[in-house]
Amino acid sequence: MDIMSIISAKHDIQYHLPLIGDIHAKSPLAYRTTRALVSVANVTQMAFAEAYINGVEVPDWLLRSFFDTSMPIIFKHFPALQTPYEWVLKETDQVAEGSRDLMKIQYDLPQGMLNRMLGDGKLIYPKYSMGLWEKGATNLEQSQMHMIDDMIEKLDIQDGDNILDFGCGWGGVPNYILSRFPNCRFTGLNLSHQQCEYMRLKMQDPESYLSSGRFTLVEGDLNDTQFDEQFDKIISVGVFCHVGNLTHSFRKLASCLRPGGKFFLHIITVRTPNNISSVYTHKYIFPHGRYWSFDSIPTYNKDFRTVERWYLNGMNYSKTMTRWLANFDDSYTDVEDLDYGIDFAKFRRIWRLYLIWFISNFASCDGEINGNGQFLMVHA
Ligand SMILES: C[S@@+](CC[C@H](N)C(=O)[O-])C[C@H]1O[C@@H](n2cnc3c(N)ncnc32)[C@H](O)[C@@H]1O
Repeated sequence: MDIMSIISAKHDIQYHLPLIGDIHAKSPLAYRTTRALVSVANVTQMAFAEAYINGVEVPDWLLRSFFDTSMPIIFKHFPALQTPYEWVLKETDQVAEGSRDLMKIQYDLPQGMLNRMLGDGKLIYPKYSMGLWEKGATNLEQSQMHMIDDMIEKLDIQDGDNILDFGCGWGGVPNYILSRFPNCRFTGLNLSHQQCEYMRLKMQDPESYLSSGRFTLVEGDLNDTQFDEQFDKIISVGVFCHVGNLTHSFRKLASCLRPGGKFFLHIITVRTPNNISSVYTHKYIFPHGRYWSFDSIPTYNKDFRTVERWYLNGMNYSKTMTRWLANFDDSYTDVEDLDYGIDFAKFRRIWRLYLIWFISNFASCDGEINGNGQFLMVHA
């Protein structure tokens, strides 16, 4: 949408906050001015990003210091600049918009590259979510174990639980939990065909807990998968940045949670008044991705009620991504010939810009604004 149509359009302004001034004022003029300025910010961001990915040399230290300087100012003083599209501010029609594009651009990328970047251990399979470093982890694998241990405790997993992992990635969380609890059962849902292929191989591998007969894989879309059974616990880690409709997704999950069951939502989140996203990540990394505001999540309380919540400092994610970037940089000779659909040199720049930017985002404001949220929910 161009600037003039934004200014002249009639919008529901209840969701919006102005760039400056009283955020409760809901003034149409402030709103329209903000949307106009946001569209200027969008164009500027994309021009800079595309110059970089098309070959303009900017050393890492300069990129880092640019993000390290600008992001805290934006997070603290101009969070409205991070709402590039109106859909970021309100619920979308579908539970997850554009899920096939997301698989193509992100999760079905060559697994040789993703697995090297994320780490592919005997027990901890590639895990594409925050590791926990605050409890003394000295490497990526340990940080991921500490994170899963922390979730086991908060969700109060008991041996014998029947658990749904909504968006299970490569099956790393189920594999670790099944190794700890010999009578637990897991169902994992994932739309990524490549990641499902990884799990299918593990389901044939006697060394994997996914081959124990206690793991069921469902290759399917969050949008239209229905479960006939009810689970004791549901866990979802790092997936809800792809969910645009909390009301509908919570309704769906509540219907497959047994009475008295618990849902543990682990999600990238921001402690700003609004949800955030960016034109760059929407086009190149996570189509339709958004980061929900930490305080807004418990307000979607028709089917679930949040009984406890935790904010995990973003430094944990910044450190995790620093390891991913190092792994990615170390893997070039092995992964440069894989099929990315574009030239590897360009792909490498797209990917490095994403990682460097996010390393800085999560470290902004000492990790206190952009981190992860965990929400323990029960039936409302
Ligand atoms: C950031 S990864 C997190 C994976 C895993 N939970 C972990 O912690 O490693 C997000 C996962 O959600 C899956 N996903 C995203 N959108 C989906 C959709 N519409 N339906 C099913 N799975 C989806 C992706 O394929 C990916 O496995």
